[in-house]
Amino acid sequence: MSDILGDWKRTHFCGELRKQDIGKQVCIMGWVHRRRDHGGLIFIDLRDRTGISQLALDPDRDPEAHAKAEAIRNEFVIAAIGTVSPRPEGTVNPKMPTGEVEVEISELRILNVAKTPPFMLDEFTEVAENLRLKYRYLDLRREGIQKNLILRHQVAQTVRNYLTEKGFLEIETPMLTKSTPEGARDYLVPSRVNLGNFYALPQSPQLFKQLLMVSGFDRYFQIVRCFRDEDLRADRQPEFTQIDCELSFVDRDDVMSIMEGMIANVFKSAINADVTLPIPRMTYAEAVDRYGVDNPDLRFEMELVNLTDLVKGCGFKVFASVVDDGGLVKAINAKGCASFSRKELDGLTDFVAIYGAKGMAWVKIQEDGSWQSPIAKFFTEQQLADIGSALHAEPGDLLLFGADKPAVTNEALGRLRGHLGNKLGLTDPDSYKFLWVTDFPLLEWDGEQRRHLAVHHPFTAPLDEDIQLLDTDPGKARAKAYDLVLNGSEIGGGSIRIHDQAIQSRMFKLLGIGEEEARQKFGFLLDALEFGAPPHGGIAFGLDRVMMILTGAGSIRDVIAFPKTQKATCLMSEAPGTVDEKQLRELGIRLAARPQQK
Ligand code: AMO
Ligand code: AMP
Repeated sequence: MSDILGDWKRTHFCGELRKQDIGKQVCIMGWVHRRRDHGGLIFIDLRDRTGISQLALDPDRDPEAHAKAEAIRNEFVIAAIGTVSPRPEGTVNPKMPTGEVEVEISELRILNVAKTPPFMLDEFTEVAENLRLKYRYLDLRREGIQKNLILRHQVAQTVRNYLTEKGFLEIETPMLTKSTPEGARDYLVPSRVNLGNFYALPQSPQLFKQLLMVSGFDRYFQIVRCFRDEDLRADRQPEFTQIDCELSFVDRDDVMSIMEGMIANVFKSAINADVTLPIPRMTYAEAVDRYGVDNPDLRFEMELVNLTDLVKGCGFKVFASVVDDGGLVKAINAKGCASFSRKELDGLTDFVAIYGAKGMAWVKIQEDGSWQSPIAKFFTEQQLADIGSALHAEPGDLLLFGADKPAVTNEALGRLRGHLGNKLGLTDPDSYKFLWVTDFPLLEWDGEQRRHLAVHHPFTAPLDEDIQLLDTDPGKARAKAYDLVLNGSEIGGGSIRIHDQAIQSRMFKLLGIGEEEARQKFGFLLDALEFGAPPHGGIAFGLDRVMMILTGAGSIRDVIAFPKTQKATCLMSEAPGTVDEKQLRELGIRLAARPQQK
């Protein structure tokens, strides 16, 4: 123990003191949250990660301690010895767990001084996020974010306990590795001892966890950092954490049932929420048909209604020609929104345009049941009645239409549905609606590269009944893949893997990965599959996204201790940064471009 503490030993944390402790002599340590001078009497709110206790310093009781207290400023680090006492009548604070008591201080030590912080360290002051991130170590003193990180620890602990009990082993996989294709760009690390060669940081431990199955570990998990150089959004970080799992001798039902048990455990222990098991399942095709997206928020209805057959050959050219071209016409009913202003409707039209929609026809159902709409005139009375009844339209409702290629109609209306759900307050933050989405397409066509890409990743197995489609119509083949969706957020995804070398090679061929390239990139996997690979499958959950939902955080940055900005920078350490010429020379690297000014 350092000199400054001498023989002082902390007896209690600041947030622990209660009525039962009255009369005890205690020693507490922490940061000065606030100091109030009441002409003579000085009160200090002393804070640590457990909470705050009030210290009272009376000049008559201990003049020396009182004199020191006069010099104390916010965020000084102090230690104090005193007696727990009841607060005087009328000064009890029922909002604080320690609000019935205070500590009458007899001795006080200043352990360290502090400059005035650049912002108030309380929950009530709104601080610009850039400033918070620059002084993250101070921001992390605030109660809200401390609570988030404490809960994150508890969740990780629950996960470890659950999986250990189910026979999973926690095994580490390399960070300096080769590219694992998960659809993003790699972060590369140059090698000094192998000049001109690069490691890739893992986008996920996918290949290694499959190899662990080949090795016979049977059940693996890891709470692991993954790296993806992709465009950042509110729920994405360049480095993020997965709860990564893989199991041998299992089918989809086994993986889903073990994993939903884990999620139920986490929600019960973290926020006392009951998850009804089994979690409902829906195929990808049904999710897209009913909700327009593969991650639907099931906290509210507003389903997409397919009007394609109804409007075939109708008088509104836009709809009729979309139908003739094999497109989709769909609509949603925003209940009670007929009062939306022109400006609001324009706003929604701009919103769907982001997803490629060329327009957004609308209908307001008037009190007398008549239609107010720019397109009403193109329809017969019967067509209006049929459309109205398909959408269960009632006076006061607002009907919103999309007409385009199927993918555009679905995505635009699906996103619009999500947007309206939030705008209209239909997304109760205390409701947790889980959904397994299954039977994803195996492949998607990339028009730019003119080749198929894997929807999940290239190691995902096709449905048995669709294997023959790989030769005839690969775009139609479905995968043994599943996502777990919660309140419209994809919190996890996985699949049963290909364990047969011949099928894996065929899959690479379908993806336009030549034999040589496959050998060079994944030779070790192809080899391993020839040495007795068991049937296996797994899943990975995005821990940060789970934590966002459990804490109600608006930003993924509020559940990560040291997060990065939208531009993938750390405002505190100023990473990424430039490096010495010497370091570059050692790595055999010469820059083609001058470093950008940040
Ligand atoms: P996938 O790519 O679907 O699957 O990732 C799994 C989960 O990780 C989370 N996630 C992210 N969270 C924050 N920031 C990001 N940039 C980010 N990217 C993904 C999501 C997602 O559901 N190897 C496979 C899993 C498997 O097949 O077992 C994989 O990585 O919540
Ligand atoms: P217009 O005849 O182009 O003025 O369009 C009449 C209405 O139909 C407007 O409200 C447009 O926003 C809407 N509209 C145009 N194209 C589409 C489309 N592809 N899907 C849905 N609505 C559309």
